[in-house]
Amino acid sequence: MADPERRTPIAANSVAENSAAENAAAENAAAENAAPENAAADDLAAGDSSARPNATLDTHADRERPAPEVPESHAEATQGGGIPEVALGEPTLHLEAADDGTSRPFADLPASDFWDTLYGRRSIRKFRAEPVPRALIEQVMHAGIWAPSSCNYQMWDLVAVDDPEVNRRLGALSTQMANAPVNIVVAYGRDFSEEAFANIQSASALIQNMSLAAHALGLGTFWITQTGGAERVREAVGLPLDRLVVAVLAVGWPKVVPKRGPKRRPLAQVTHWNHYAGRPIPSSTRPADWAPDLLAIYQRARVLNGLRHNKPRAWEVLALDEALARLVPEGRERASDDAQPRRWLDVLPCTGVVTARLGVQRPGFRFDVVERTAEVAQFVAQRVSPPAAMYAWPNPTAALSEPPAAHYDVVSCWHRLEGLTADARQRLLEDMARWVKPGGRVLLAFVSKHSYHDWTERLRARRGGPRGVEYVLAPDPNVGPFETLEPREVEQLAAGSGLVVRERFGLQPAPTPAEVDFRARNFGSRTRRLAHAAATTLRFVMKAPGLASRRARLCYLSLERPAR
Ligand SMILES: Cc1cc2nc3c(=O)[nH]c(=O)nc-3n(C[C@H](O)[C@H](O)[C@H](O)COP(=O)(O)O)c2cc1C
Repeated sequence: MADPERRTPIAANSVAENSAAENAAAENAAAENAAPENAAADDLAAGDSSARPNATLDTHADRERPAPEVPESHAEATQGGGIPEVALGEPTLHLEAADDGTSRPFADLPASDFWDTLYGRRSIRKFRAEPVPRALIEQVMHAGIWAPSSCNYQMWDLVAVDDPEVNRRLGALSTQMANAPVNIVVAYGRDFSEEAFANIQSASALIQNMSLAAHALGLGTFWITQTGGAERVREAVGLPLDRLVVAVLAVGWPKVVPKRGPKRRPLAQVTHWNHYAGRPIPSSTRPADWAPDLLAIYQRARVLNGLRHNKPRAWEVLALDEALARLVPEGRERASDDAQPRRWLDVLPCTGVVTARLGVQRPGFRFDVVERTAEVAQFVAQRVSPPAAMYAWPNPTAALSEPPAAHYDVVSCWHRLEGLTADARQRLLEDMARWVKPGGRVLLAFVSKHSYHDWTERLRARRGGPRGVEYVLAPDPNVGPFETLEPREVEQLAAGSGLVVRERFGLQPAPTPAEVDFRARNFGSRTRRLAHAAATTLRFVMKAPGLASRRARLCYLSLERPAR
């Protein structure tokens, strides 16, 4: 049994933190009376992306926060009076301590500042290969079980996997579980606390506790829900049928630590006092349900996540390259310095996935971008070289004007018409027709209502696949509402804007094998096989003359503004 009188460094530390926090809270209350209500939120909204408390609460505001200590080696990790090293294969360091129901750590732990730990924790996706002593993992799990749980039922079960063979089996289910030396499978009694998802909430509290504890010990964690199938994970670690696998927490020594966390949405946008006074970001995929300013806010939040969440998929790149070869065969070489560069305006590029590829494939053009907000425009502008000039649509501001009229050789809009209402679509096409030079081209790419797209989405939703905005995958995912379009209607809008169709064609009448793999990744092997068989059949059927172009998913239009 642990000595009840013994005060561990961590316990002593937390007492000190408490009084500091109390003082800070009192200070904060005083400051609130004096300062405008949203001063803290303004701090964040003004672009302070550092993961730190606001100025009033930050008692260490002028202190540089050291990078979390990452031990160089297994041995170093366990030196210095912390948890002593334990031979791999031994079940626990302090069996008694592990059975101890008191809320204290097993041993003297390195001191850690609560706020530094809280704000400094990052999702770690690359780990060093060396093993983690079981004693540390047990401490992490011990911190986990001190989370709250519904009715204090604690119907959680944890299986820490450090056997490379079992981890290999987990890694085969999902590559996310193939990175760390330890994967902790977190399960909860399937039929306990189902009301209001209290079982999931309890397990989540435990996982977050473990993530913070691991970070305080210099370890990194990665919260994994895309496990390739909760039931398969359950079977791989021998959990019985009545346990529900909620998530897996990968744990190991960090190899790469992100310098900063992805930015958070401003406090003022997501918090309210006493009564909700905001306008929620819709979860509907219908463009009509989205106010334009909410779409702008949502898209700005998406790019705050940085490049890691804004990468193209293989089939998207394939389609873009194929379309480019037909639509813009010129401009593959960088123009000489004295030549007047051809100008290309990319319209509403959002994540800039397509713009970046255009820049690489057509260096003979100078690219400009027009976006809804300065932040998104800036994000995209940096993805081409030289950085693009930035403009705003539909609401120009003092900082960002509307693009110049009759200025561009090419004006392109890739898969953004699908996210607009009919009125906004009309307005955008009229504006694009104005921005392009007489004789220049307007290029449109959109997903056709006559393709397989809608029925595969319906099928996916019916089979329990994810629904909602985040999972609507156009060739550039996750950028807001999305609905497939009627090709004839798009052509009518173009004609109404004074544009003449020069070329039309379709691509990918059936999904590529890579796309089927991706979309079906969370289904069982039988469903995945079925999905591949259906796609193969569709590919075969689409070989019938004329069908591929009429039923293609991706439609491309090259339009010309006639020179008068
Ligand atoms: C429930 C849950 C599921 C997650 N799933 C994934 C995932 O599948 N892939 C991934 O790269 N990150 C995943 N993450 C990590 C988030 O992307 C990450 O927490 C977020 O970008 C914020 O970064 P930070 O954890 O470094 O602060 C998940 C996080 C949570 C809480």
